[in-house]
Amino acid sequence: MSKMLEISGLSSYYGGICALNDVSLYINEGEITSIIGSNGAGKSTLMRTVAGDKKIDSGTVLFNGSPLPESVDRVVSGGISLVPEGRRIFSSLTVRENLILGTCSRRDYKQAMADTLDEVLELFPKLRERYHQPGGTLSGGEQQMLAIGRALMARPKLLCLDEPSLGLAPIIIDEVFDKIIQLNEERGLTVLLVEQNAFLALDVAHRAYVLNTGRITLEGTGTELAENPNVQAEYLGVKTGE
Ligand SMILES: Nc1ncnc2c1ncn2[C@@H]1O[C@H](COP(=O)(O)OP(=O)(O)OP(=O)(O)O)[C@@H](O)[C@H]1O
Ligand SMILES: [Mg+2]
Repeated sequence: MSKMLEISGLSSYYGGICALNDVSLYINEGEITSIIGSNGAGKSTLMRTVAGDKKIDSGTVLFNGSPLPESVDRVVSGGISLVPEGRRIFSSLTVRENLILGTCSRRDYKQAMADTLDEVLELFPKLRERYHQPGGTLSGGEQQMLAIGRALMARPKLLCLDEPSLGLAPIIIDEVFDKIIQLNEERGLTVLLVEQNAFLALDVAHRAYVLNTGRITLEGTGTELAENPNVQAEYLGVKTGE
């Protein structure tokens, strides 16, 4: 299996604060890789780094064997799209306009509007119904679908999702995660997922890591980590010693 992304010895700082401390991990092509961790563990910092939005202070990030480009635009056109934490859709722009923004990095804009748009609307039929509505009038779940749709408009090879479950009702979370699984299984999309919702993140993951205050402390298959007693006690709310 080939490694699509390979991070070695990555450290990242905000001024004097160390957010990532010597992080090494890899993502296999065609798989869903999840990273679980509590508040402030460094999950978003890691995502922003992979998406080219945060400078690499030390260490290396290789994407398909080459160093990550230094601008967000080039990272996106190279095939990495981020669905940011909190979705960040433009609430006064329509669904259509938000989706168009996702094609910014593509030179084949017309092609994007001709074929990728149809694929996205097929995956998320709700977005077709709401096509001319301002993004801000959508429900939380629909906004998450829109944020994912916008990222897909760039035709990524690697889709990075930062806490897609945040603030959504359980039934809507299931719907969002079903779409993520569908993208992976039916379209072969490689996915990097970070979540505080460890149960879900491990359930869908082929491989997973635990990020604890800037350091990777555990790695394994999703099942291995879900069965690990430390993970159960700290992240899955399982009580021990009863
Ligand atoms: N812009 C910033 N300036 C200064 N410190 C920051 C900044 N962004 C993050 N940090 C700090 O870096 C650390 C990691 O933050 P990060 O947002 O990556 O964590 P996270 O795992 O995504 O947390 P959450 O689960 O709350 O989203 C935290 O200590 C945080 O306070
Ligand atoms: Mg975060």
